[in-house]
Amino acid sequence: MPRNIWNTIAAVPADSLRHIFANDAQRVQNMTVRQSGILFDFSKTHLNDGLLAAFQSLAGHAKFTEAREKLFSGEIVNPSEGRAAEHTAERGNGAAQQVEMAKALQARMRGLIEAIDAGAMGEVKHILHIGIGGSALGPKLLIDALGRDDARYDVKVVSNVDAAALAEAVANMDPHKTIVAVASKTFTTTETLMNAASAIEWMKQAGVSDPEGRIIALTANPEKAIEWGVDESRILPFNEAVGGRYSLWCSIGFPVAIGLGWAAYEELLEGAAAMDRHFKTSDLTSNAPVLAAYADLYYSQVRKCQTRAVFAYDERLRLLPDYLQQLEMESNGKSVTASGEPLGVNSAPVTWGGVGTDAQHAVFQLLHQGTHLIPVEFIVSKTPGHDFDPAHHETLLINCFAQGAALMSGRKSDDGARNYVGDRPSVTLLLEDVTPSVVGALIAFYEHRTYVNAMLLDINPFDQFGVELGKEIAKAIAQDGPSGFDASTMALIAEAEL
Ligand code: F6P
Repeated sequence: MPRNIWNTIAAVPADSLRHIFANDAQRVQNMTVRQSGILFDFSKTHLNDGLLAAFQSLAGHAKFTEAREKLFSGEIVNPSEGRAAEHTAERGNGAAQQVEMAKALQARMRGLIEAIDAGAMGEVKHILHIGIGGSALGPKLLIDALGRDDARYDVKVVSNVDAAALAEAVANMDPHKTIVAVASKTFTTTETLMNAASAIEWMKQAGVSDPEGRIIALTANPEKAIEWGVDESRILPFNEAVGGRYSLWCSIGFPVAIGLGWAAYEELLEGAAAMDRHFKTSDLTSNAPVLAAYADLYYSQVRKCQTRAVFAYDERLRLLPDYLQQLEMESNGKSVTASGEPLGVNSAPVTWGGVGTDAQHAVFQLLHQGTHLIPVEFIVSKTPGHDFDPAHHETLLINCFAQGAALMSGRKSDDGARNYVGDRPSVTLLLEDVTPSVVGALIAFYEHRTYVNAMLLDINPFDQFGVELGKEIAKAIAQDGPSGFDASTMALIAEAEL
């Protein structure tokens, strides 16, 4: 990639948002993409024809269309680990052999779910899903978003090693009617194995006769699960080339498939598959994940924004910012290129966010008047998730749209404290409804956007070595006791009497 490409992009004139709208009657139509039940409105960003052309040229230099092809054809896109990334194959979009393997493993999951439904594990009321990071965030988001009304089982997700989380999850569970899904790609993760052992103990203490027989393992490392004590018949394997934060489509989605039912799970996959097809085949300038990434890169590289904020104006999607934090920051928070050279530009910004309208009364002050420029993303559904007075939903939508308008237009005042500078960008995603199909498309959109960002920055988005050092140090302290650490760490360990 030519070194000066970012200078070229930075040199493209960018008008204020107010001027862009004043000078282009077609702005909204030109910068809106409709796909899979989602309207993507990119009009309130500074992207203009000159910037789009510059990003097209960047995409050309980065050989982006080839990189996209590689992703879908199952070639190695994770060079540091020598792996493909097969999450799209789980949705039927990948190399034939990989799709076939994914479908076979999904069929195995379906078989086990049908057996459980038919009583093979006795009476089951509760599913306790234990996992962390990518083995928890997706299921947690989906159960919270889609399982509110008619979930088939009571599903709880526990991730934190702080057993207060486990205690809260099992408080209203009948241990005799619970099955425990232990989700871990590696089946070596400390938190997950500790929580799983405590869940077994909880059942034992309640007199459950065969607690180990109530464990189901969701893993890409079946040997480790067997070693740990899970019977092979209750292991739902998945392919190692499905990354942790991209894994809710495979057996990590077990609590979703059993909790919401197989039809809903298939709708979720089909929604994501439709977004795959859009991403794979659409022209780059009308491609939602690509346009979103162009805006991301414009703000992070040219305007030097250190963060981006995501607000779900829908209680059902309140866990979306948490999910996106792992997806975006674990994927693209890197300081070296895919070939190990210094990155030389900003990595992914910090993703943060919350729920509207709550966040308006907490953090929006800074968004409107702080010295930081923070690109904002609004996600809102046309259809409410409740039967209360429709005025609630109207108020929610009105507030969401009002915030975008206020950020963009601002309002001049001679009194600095009351002045709103405006020209602050936002993207709005207007969903038809929060259904399995739309949520599947939404998550796939974010996955692909993350991939485009990575390819245009020359980052490998599929490894995560940054999380290892802390884990190793914790292991060393746990195994060998504290020694050889800095004075602060030693003093804290001593004070806590570890
Ligand atoms: O520590 C980070 C991480 O490796 C994530 O990438 C992953 O999603 C999570 O831990 C859980 O890992 P596993 O599924 O192997 O238990």
